[in-house]
Amino acid sequence: MKEKKNIAVYPGTFDPPTYGHLDIIKRASSIFDKVIISISADSVKNTTFSIKEREEMLRVITRELKNVEVTSFKGLLVNFLKNKKSRIIIRGLRAVSDFEYEFQLALTNRKLDNSIETVFFIPDETYTYLSSSLVKEIIRLNGNIDKLVPPIVKFYLEKKLKKTLDNYN
Ligand code: COA
Repeated sequence: MKEKKNIAVYPGTFDPPTYGHLDIIKRASSIFDKVIISISADSVKNTTFSIKEREEMLRVITRELKNVEVTSFKGLLVNFLKNKKSRIIIRGLRAVSDFEYEFQLALTNRKLDNSIETVFFIPDETYTYLSSSLVKEIIRLNGNIDKLVPPIVKFYLEKKLKKTLDNYN
């Protein structure tokens, strides 16, 4: 009999991905047969990086993880899961403050499709305070982000930052 594979989807905006996201991805990839990182193309957030740029960053930082795939999706997350034959959503819980929002997301997704389960991972405590906006603010103010994002993400951030500064001159 063919063995059933556990495919999990890790959705998010990833603008940009940080070591906190990578921590969750590594934990998930050690448990599930396959992890599909899925960038939401319909995010209401005013994003700094294009989908292509975010995909590129995520691919580079996960290239050692053979069971991880990077893609993007439009529309409802539950429909994307169905297309990918997955029933598992992965989310990270950094602090109690994340709980209410995540609780709402998980229960709404369950209402939309009762077969879907959300699985939460807690990142290493080093990253519990971290967010993508915080990283962008630090780089804008010329702070050091070496411990917060992988080198490729730093490269992309500096490229964007340089453009912004050039616009001022
Ligand atoms: N490490 C570091 N930062 C983390 C993190 C971690 N482990 N986990 C979350 N974050 C940060 C992100 O950087 C982001 O920070 P920012 O707000 O400063 O940019 C913030 O926490 C939350 O972002 P993220 O995890 O990417 O979630 P999101 O709220 O942007 O994305 C979707 C939510 C995309 C999953 C959700 O909107 C969705 O499913 N959309 C599709 C449409 C749909 O189906 N809607 C109905 C859903 S009920």
